[in-house]
Amino acid sequence: MPRLLLRLFLGSLALLAPCLAGGDAAAQAPMGWKTGPEAAAIERRIDRLLRQMTLDEKVGQLHLYGRREGFDYGEIRAGRIGNVMNFVDPVEMAAVQKAARESRLKIPLLIGLDAVHGVSTYFPLPLGQAATFNPALVEEAALWTGREARALGINWTFAPMVDMSRDPRWGRLLEGAGEDAHLSNIMAAARTRGYQAGGVAATVKHFVGYGGGEAGRDYNTAWIPTEQLHDLHLPPFRSALDAGSLSVMAAFNSVNGIPATAHKGMLTDVLRRQWGFRGLVVSDFGSIPELMAHGIARDEAEAARKAIAAGVDIDMMGFVYSRHLAAEVRAGRVPIAQVDEAVRRVLRVKFHAGMDTINDIDPKTAESALQSPPALDAARRAARESIILLENDGILPLDPARHRRIAVIGALARPDQERVWTDPAGVPRKPLESLDAALARLLGSGATVSYQPGVTTYCGKEFADRAATVEAASAADVIVAKLGEDCEFMGEGASRTRLTLPGVQDALLEELIGTGKPVVVVLATGRPLVLSHLKGRLAALVQTFHAGSEGRTAIAEILTGAANPSGKTPISFPRAVGQIPVYYDHLPTGRPETKGRFRYESIFMDEANQPLYPFGYGLSYTRFSISDLRIETPRIDPNGQLKASVLVSNTGSRDGQEVVQLYVRQPVASISRPVRQLKAFEKVMLKAGSSQRVSFTVPAQALGYHNAAGRLMVEAGGFEVHVGTSSLTELKGEFSVSGSTRDGVRLRP
Ligand code: GLC
Repeated sequence: MPRLLLRLFLGSLALLAPCLAGGDAAAQAPMGWKTGPEAAAIERRIDRLLRQMTLDEKVGQLHLYGRREGFDYGEIRAGRIGNVMNFVDPVEMAAVQKAARESRLKIPLLIGLDAVHGVSTYFPLPLGQAATFNPALVEEAALWTGREARALGINWTFAPMVDMSRDPRWGRLLEGAGEDAHLSNIMAAARTRGYQAGGVAATVKHFVGYGGGEAGRDYNTAWIPTEQLHDLHLPPFRSALDAGSLSVMAAFNSVNGIPATAHKGMLTDVLRRQWGFRGLVVSDFGSIPELMAHGIARDEAEAARKAIAAGVDIDMMGFVYSRHLAAEVRAGRVPIAQVDEAVRRVLRVKFHAGMDTINDIDPKTAESALQSPPALDAARRAARESIILLENDGILPLDPARHRRIAVIGALARPDQERVWTDPAGVPRKPLESLDAALARLLGSGATVSYQPGVTTYCGKEFADRAATVEAASAADVIVAKLGEDCEFMGEGASRTRLTLPGVQDALLEELIGTGKPVVVVLATGRPLVLSHLKGRLAALVQTFHAGSEGRTAIAEILTGAANPSGKTPISFPRAVGQIPVYYDHLPTGRPETKGRFRYESIFMDEANQPLYPFGYGLSYTRFSISDLRIETPRIDPNGQLKASVLVSNTGSRDGQEVVQLYVRQPVASISRPVRQLKAFEKVMLKAGSSQRVSFTVPAQALGYHNAAGRLMVEAGGFEVHVGTSSLTELKGEFSVSGSTRDGVRLRP
């Protein structure tokens, strides 16, 4: 949005000062669970309120209504809407707050938004943030996202999404942290801390198993054995809750035949009874009435009964609680205690989050909070570290002495109308630097940089100026093609059976390669695409998962060497869709591939087993070596810790960052164990020629697995340690665990 318009938009905030001035400096305090006397006082306050509330007011607290034309603020005033979502305009936000103040009990509103990877300042997609392997940076990204959301009056974000998936056919892979549970655990906690420190309550989602949908088809059935549910899908939720997430969102899918939105075993037994979660559960958008389509509810009233009995507190845009819950209580089919418990959890979140003191936006701070210099700086750093260098024949970094004429091809090189997923409409943004402008700026007058969109839109569906594009490419010394997925090819409802560049982009790329000039491809996608056909045909290949507001500038910094790439793949890149699921922490099978292409081993006749690019992989402009692995604890107690260290050296000519990864394997146990599992990583910055010893500590309880009863088993025996700069690790060591435990309790030998 042009600066003038931005000022007009934000200037309107100043007009609202009188009715918004309730904003409070305390609002900057991070949000989270209170303890001790404060928590006890909140419970007493809830007790008092529950005694005062009518049944309709109680049901109003369990209803989440989205912004739409003709929204009736009177419903808030009447206490029939206790929570809203998708409001970003300050005039409307003021009306929402005013209506809440005029309600009988003046209970503050939850004001929600999908503030996931940015509001006004955009950070890389969460999958790109995971590629940084830098939790502190990811936490900072969430902090700025939370701050910008709160500046607009939002106090609740529907994030982090922590669904585990190994299936790039699923469009929502982009929202998570990739295929590995340990990386996802770390990122789930970092994002939760960041959002809530920024001032919005986190909602860890989608509980549970949404990423396990068959064939990667969105909303599809998930059959997940108990062992894998507890080893892979549940841990990132636990991490987010341990980091203080105040809410959870139930998932659309069914898990082993039971819809997650009516899954009492998960929502009550695991989430509340086992884990002790005291916050609220909100349904996904309409997922309660969808229980009828799932075939477990005859009508809306039964759907409402099953959801509230399972433990879903708020009905997001399903309207079944608002339509039926009061009548079901009066008819004796829903105990009032269930409603009261749900209301208690909603009020508990509102009051622990201090929402009745932060609900107003302060117009004076709003402008400075949107796209502030520190936020843009954080976005630049996150973008840089999210960029993964997959191939480089030496052409990168670009050298204006050798590469004077550079042709930038691809509409994705310019951000004018780019619509990146989870883009809350109507939030102002300053103009962003284009890739061609950034390249020209960084390469200086020695280089000339031309630009051709090549396609008419960001979706890549039609050629634009095809002849002129090929002509510009033919006249260049180097072609930089920015291609990828955008528009409807990403996110919710974007499951694909062919992982190609959408539209005409593949054909365009073939024409660029056909010029015979070196081609540097920069991808901006929401998932790994199948790139096997490009192997050996490009001068360089750079992967970004849409690097955000500062993304194009950061890409130019990487291409010109102003920054050294350090991103690592958070998910394996399949050679073919037929390989899916392909991931690194697989079981060995009884016939592991040993002889290469031997028919009677676990192989494909027509494709290799290994992915095109493995988990944890990424190149640098310098070289690192890992040596001298030391196992400081060769034998550990099952409740003890493994301590190991390695020497990392930068043997190249450039300063750079490397992600040192520690994997563990238990080669023999009661059940077959993965060939390796990431259990620790450390990202280090090393000056050229320097070395550093990197130490790791891994709790023995992290080496276990869950049995068919969902119990955590750590088995005595020998373990391997593998340390390297990707899942194809280099160094190997051994240690042993001296005893076995179940749920941490020692078992007699
Ligand atoms: C969607 C998504 C969920 C999102 C919600 C609100 O359907 O599944 O992740 O938070 O609706 O937009």
